[in-house]
Amino acid sequence: MTDARELLGRLGVEEKAALCVGASAWTTVPLAARGVGAVRMSDGPHGVRFVADEQAAVQESLAATCFPTAVALASTWNVDLVRDVAAALGAEAAALGVHVLLGPGVNIKRTPLGGRNFEYLSEDPYLAGELAVAWIEGLQSQGVGASLKHFALNNQEYQRNSIDVSVDERALREIYLPAFEAAVTRARPWTVMCAYNRVDGDLCSQNERLLTRILREEWGYQGLVVSDWGAVRDRVAALAAGLDLEMPGPRPAHVQEIVDAVADGRLPGSRLDDAALRILRMALSAPAAAGAAAVDPDGHHRLARDAAREGMVLLKNEGILPLGRGQTLAVIGRSAMEAKIQAGGSSRVSPTRVDTPWDALVATGAELRYAEGWAADLRPRDDLVRQSVDAARAADVALVFVALPGTLESEGYDRTDLSLPPAQVQLIRAVAAAQPQTVVVLNTGGAVAMAPWIASVPAVLQAWTMGQAGGGALVDVLTGAANPGGKLAETFPLAIHDTPAYLSYPGENGRVRYDEGIFVGYRYYDERKAAVLFPFGHGLSYTTFAYDDLRVSATRFDLGERLRVSFNITNTGAAAGQEVAQLYVHDADARLRRPPKELKGFAKVRLEPGETSRVDLELDERTFAYYDPAHGRWVADAGDFDLLVGASSADIRLRTRVTLTRGTPLPFALTRESSVREWLADPRGKAVLAPLLAVIQEAMARTMGSSDGREAIGMDLDRFLMDMPLVAIVAHGETTPQVSATAMVDALLARAGAMPLDHDGAVA
Ligand code: BGC
Repeated sequence: MTDARELLGRLGVEEKAALCVGASAWTTVPLAARGVGAVRMSDGPHGVRFVADEQAAVQESLAATCFPTAVALASTWNVDLVRDVAAALGAEAAALGVHVLLGPGVNIKRTPLGGRNFEYLSEDPYLAGELAVAWIEGLQSQGVGASLKHFALNNQEYQRNSIDVSVDERALREIYLPAFEAAVTRARPWTVMCAYNRVDGDLCSQNERLLTRILREEWGYQGLVVSDWGAVRDRVAALAAGLDLEMPGPRPAHVQEIVDAVADGRLPGSRLDDAALRILRMALSAPAAAGAAAVDPDGHHRLARDAAREGMVLLKNEGILPLGRGQTLAVIGRSAMEAKIQAGGSSRVSPTRVDTPWDALVATGAELRYAEGWAADLRPRDDLVRQSVDAARAADVALVFVALPGTLESEGYDRTDLSLPPAQVQLIRAVAAAQPQTVVVLNTGGAVAMAPWIASVPAVLQAWTMGQAGGGALVDVLTGAANPGGKLAETFPLAIHDTPAYLSYPGENGRVRYDEGIFVGYRYYDERKAAVLFPFGHGLSYTTFAYDDLRVSATRFDLGERLRVSFNITNTGAAAGQEVAQLYVHDADARLRRPPKELKGFAKVRLEPGETSRVDLELDERTFAYYDPAHGRWVADAGDFDLLVGASSADIRLRTRVTLTRGTPLPFALTRESSVREWLADPRGKAVLAPLLAVIQEAMARTMGSSDGREAIGMDLDRFLMDMPLVAIVAHGETTPQVSATAMVDALLARAGAMPLDHDGAVA
């Protein structure tokens, strides 16, 4: 095979520059005379959107399996299944000669209104990261490259091409980057796609901090950085910042700008070489187009059905599901006939076939009555409601199918409302009033508010944007042929004004500040002790599970030691089923404020009635750490941590406490402005200050006219002084007027800084 570096040496600047801008909507520039083919890309992520005409970005694509979208896939919490689905996507892509499939999307769901939430995995960075790793491994196992997107902070669609995001460093590191970091460092996607938006003023396509310092220097990424389609404004600035390939093309003006910039020294030739080399490597190593071989559409349809089934979340069930045999069913709502399998935008796939819920219900042999329920244009229609009520009354059970229709959930703009459209709310209320045995089946790509109607219906099944085989999967779950095994990968709030980002979303004057910081999703609701509609991790089953016998490999452990956590789950009901057990960690002794719990492990187990399985999870150092911006690094503090094992974030069944005996050693960080509390919290600071503290405090107390050294003008002096900078106290107290306060504090700092520490971080 041609060696990429050797070939690079033979290329002129024009050829290298040409490589860095796409040739068409979907391909890179081939160098035919040099034996370099074009790389072919396609969307992604839940099916192959192969547009036959390379010059057309948005045209009807060839038929491909439409798998459940990311929201449904994530709700399976099943990494093996996610890997299998992605491998099937890889096989379909390869058969079409696609080298890179544009997915997965791992942006965090900051607000439930996010237009692309159906295409993203979770509000939780750990869950999104684990699933993204599995997805990329599965896809790339087929010789097809992934494109991890959209890097970074593309958490809303409103003004996505321009909005300037600002987020504090902790939230960036703890919430918005970890899924990218896990995917890059563990699964090595062939490409990373930059986002459209700005971060701290710089477009992501021209963001040197994101594309070079974090992605390459911190995470060691070796693959290719590609632009989101049309995200590049200034080609030279983008290249300088670390963006290798601009898509789509052709854009001869941009190629010329690169050539000129190298010629006049504005762009180092070495940067162009890096980018061209990465593109050459990919073009030379991507397997030749396989042609339409070896895809099994029936098998993939079955896999899509398995995935849809496992991702469906039974939100509420007061004994009405599964449906009994011989019941007459009123099937109400047009989404029973016109299955909602996906949502709008670049991810939209032309399915190979579609199973509707109606057809699947007919296939059960049940006696059915259909009513349209709601109009496609969503205008309230009393006639449709009346027909529905009649159908519901004449049946044993009413199944009400509601979906957020067509264009309400899409790329490019956000949802405007958390509620269902009024016509659907009116329908549900009317049917539920006429028929107490009413089940609501939701096909939405994200959370919806249910306050006006949830109390009046005994069951709600969330079926998501369920993919082409979703209709069959849905009926499997309704009838009990399959036991629902999905759990929410995002919180369902009660109302939009309860949500963490409510006050700062969507931003104004072109900027959005993520004021809620690290308190995203359940981290926020937990911290506020706020009620939610359905918590993160929630999902019911037709059986019950008991948890017991929680054990840890050590109750005291040192940095760098892995901790093993294990427990039993038993199926205590009468049906076989799957449980998603979740492990959360709470830091009881952190120096910085931390959420009450954070997901750090999970496992999905399938159990027959009466069967017990032992779950084993391993926790590494990062599990216990937070990102400390003051030190620019991950830090775990010595002290106690609670390990919480549960069936959801709000249903903790087992807990135990472990102790980290030694925290991350930190460089000496006291400064002139450090407070007494900070001095005392630092072992070296304490060693120096503690013996002097009484004298300093007394001097201060005298200055303040205190008679007993403890109180002055109605103040508790200890508390008053604790959070004052030492230098300010010294200055007030005039302990040694001949020495300035700053000189005195500097001398103390020098003494403290020079003290050696032992292995445990104590003063030696
Ligand atoms: C989307 C990407 C997509 C690309 C190509 C963009 O508008 O943001 O997710 O991969 O188009 O269709």
